[in-house]
Amino acid sequence: MKLVLLVFLFICFDILAIGVCKSNSSRPDTVNIGAILAFNSTIGRVARVAIDAAVNDVNSDPNVLRGTKLVVHQQDSYCNGFIGIVEALQFMETDIAAIIGPQSSVVAHVITHVANELKVPLLSFAATDPTLSSLEYPFFVRTTQSDAFQMAAVAELVDYFQWRQVIVIFIDDDYGRNGVASLSDKLAEKRSKISYKGALPPEPDRSDISDLLVRVALMESRIIVLHANPDSGIKVLKMAHYLGMTITGYVWIATDWLSSLLDSHSPLDSEIMDTMQGVISLRQHTADTKRKKSLLSKWSKFKTDDNAINFRLNSYGLYAYDSVWMVAHALDAFFDDGGAIEFYNDSRLQDADGGTLNLEALSVFGKGNLLLRKIQSTVFDGVTGPFELDSDGNLIHPAYDILNIVGTGSRSIGYWSNYSGLSTETPEILYLKPPNRSSINQKLYDVIWPGQTTTNPRGWVFPNNGQELRIGVPNRVSYPEFVSKEKGSDTMKGYCIDVFTAAVNLLPYPIVYRFIPFGNGLVNPNFTELVEKVSSNEFDAAVGDIAINTDRTRIVDFTQPFIESGLVILTTVKEHDSSAWAFLQPFTLEMWCVTGLFFLFVGAVIWILEHRINDEFRGPPRKQLVTIFWYVWTRKISFSLR
Ligand SMILES: *[C@@H]1O[C@H](CO)[C@@H](O)[C@H](O)[C@H]1NC(C)=O
Ligand SMILES: *[C@@H]1O[C@H](CO)[C@@H](O)[C@H](O)[C@H]1NC(C)=O
Ligand SMILES: *[C@@H]1O[C@H](CO)[C@@H](O)[C@H](O)[C@H]1NC(C)=O
Ligand SMILES: *[C@@H]1O[C@H](CO)[C@@H](O)[C@H](O)[C@H]1NC(C)=O
Ligand SMILES: *[C@@H]1O[C@H](CO)[C@@H](O)[C@H](O)[C@H]1NC(C)=O
Ligand SMILES: *[C@@H]1O[C@H](CO)[C@@H](O)[C@H](O)[C@H]1NC(C)=O
Repeated sequence: MKLVLLVFLFICFDILAIGVCKSNSSRPDTVNIGAILAFNSTIGRVARVAIDAAVNDVNSDPNVLRGTKLVVHQQDSYCNGFIGIVEALQFMETDIAAIIGPQSSVVAHVITHVANELKVPLLSFAATDPTLSSLEYPFFVRTTQSDAFQMAAVAELVDYFQWRQVIVIFIDDDYGRNGVASLSDKLAEKRSKISYKGALPPEPDRSDISDLLVRVALMESRIIVLHANPDSGIKVLKMAHYLGMTITGYVWIATDWLSSLLDSHSPLDSEIMDTMQGVISLRQHTADTKRKKSLLSKWSKFKTDDNAINFRLNSYGLYAYDSVWMVAHALDAFFDDGGAIEFYNDSRLQDADGGTLNLEALSVFGKGNLLLRKIQSTVFDGVTGPFELDSDGNLIHPAYDILNIVGTGSRSIGYWSNYSGLSTETPEILYLKPPNRSSINQKLYDVIWPGQTTTNPRGWVFPNNGQELRIGVPNRVSYPEFVSKEKGSDTMKGYCIDVFTAAVNLLPYPIVYRFIPFGNGLVNPNFTELVEKVSSNEFDAAVGDIAINTDRTRIVDFTQPFIESGLVILTTVKEHDSSAWAFLQPFTLEMWCVTGLFFLFVGAVIWILEHRINDEFRGPPRKQLVTIFWYVWTRKISFSLR
């Protein structure tokens, strides 16, 4: 028995030893990975420190890469634009196995084409443009939430407060444009829409912003979704505050740029905080894990060696940290599968002779496809919670915190998760229950809106573009009590006008209107024509004793009727001769004869049945006859009285 066990152990050890040997021999000492960020940006500054921290943690954990060290090369791509793209392209010339980034969606759109060619996976922790998930970019792996989910959250918020139209202000680049397109789709699912898309150039100046905001202020909708980046977003809010557009009645919904700014830099100047009181913002929801807490407690230690600017960890920093761990776990599985970090020159790029772009320096990662597959199937517990990609390439469990900016910071008013919609419970609790999107379950805590009010804004006003409402009024000739023009002046009077002014006075907001008499004052105007003028936008509305009929309801909306006419039938009046014998008229002569005959018949039958047993029916024939007639007559009268 012992011998068998010994042999078994020996075989086991042998296999183990071979395994260790094999993996030892094929594992390089170091693996180069790259990171493309905009160093001088809110997200980039945090991510830079987070990536360094993650690489440190991976290298000091012997269980992850088992001896191999990660070496990260960071490249500043600035925020957007040409220089950023060129810098990123040059960076691709170094032989790297994977890239953390790029940070911006604009750079990502260009670099993914190169990454596809060189077979280098990109793990972007900050490019949220939904179109980057397309099949065109197989080597783009998004290690953060796609804006498609953020926009679904915004659309559900809009629906929750029962607003129907929103205005979007966005930066007109790939990130802004595609985010807004996604919002438009999600709003359509909720039967709402974007009434105006206000585009700003990538680096807007004061006049761009004020021109746009003045246009927005004249519009009907008061719900403004601001999808920008921290720099320009703050500028827009400042200008809106200056123009008086952050007062009661306005609703500002800022996408996650605002929360990442606040998380990193709060407390901001009180002057800046004043401009965003009552704003609603979203933040990618990350679970409260132990690893997150320990990273947060270590954070102050990491950044002391950096510049003097004080900044804290935000959700993008957490995703950057987890991206590095994802690469590390994937590389481990890659080496286990016998993968090797080898590059070869692309013959097609070699042939591009005469150029000075130095394209031949770009080399293709031979086993790139294998590493990509390993990344896609990596599952681990990160600082943001369970970290895993679903079959569509999205991180599992997309969820957002919904924040209300008040005072010097923000308060959470609830959560949105793709799993259960809006809720005041954390998504982690909801994941344990079956999904339930019923409308009773959709709740949020009260919001403090701009102007320090807690009543939910109506979300629209009458477009205040200097125009008053044109109200068409029939200039009646007959029945002037209903509505007519005052003699010698232009004012209208009558019952309908009184009802209208009483209703307008009940409205919680003022409206400006003008009555326009319709008709020449000599004959009653044609009411159908008046209604048609409302539908053809010559009048904004019409007031008067206008009958509601089917044809008219097809082209305009009517109020509830305030004079009930009911259903009546009209006929012509005919003169009739009436005489004392008029009561005989309902019956014809035949009818009277038949009635008389039945009288006799019934009497005879009763006499036959009764006279043998009933004393009343005996005696002289004259008395019997009277009894018969009397009896039948009383029966008839008593029946007809019933
Ligand atoms: C194999 O890896 C172990 C650590 O996991 C290390 O101590 C050892 O030196 C390596 N052997 C070779 C041959 O590289
Ligand atoms: C970083 O950006 C700020 C404005 O956001 C600018 O004032 C500063 O000069 C920039 N620094 C560098 C090194 O580019
Ligand atoms: C690829 O081309 C570059 C430049 O022509 C050269 O320096 C390098 O050695 C080549 N690499 C391989 C693996 O052939
Ligand atoms: C989001 O929700 C929809 C429907 O509820 C579902 O089809 C989709 O798979 C979910 N996506 C993720 C990433 O969970
Ligand atoms: C969803 O929640 C509501 C209220 O809590 C409950 O009435 C309903 O039965 C739930 N629906 C499902 C499918 O669990
Ligand atoms: C009123 O106007 C409508 C449409 O303009 C027309 O069809 C109708 O005949 C007019 N009625 C009278 C009584 O003129």
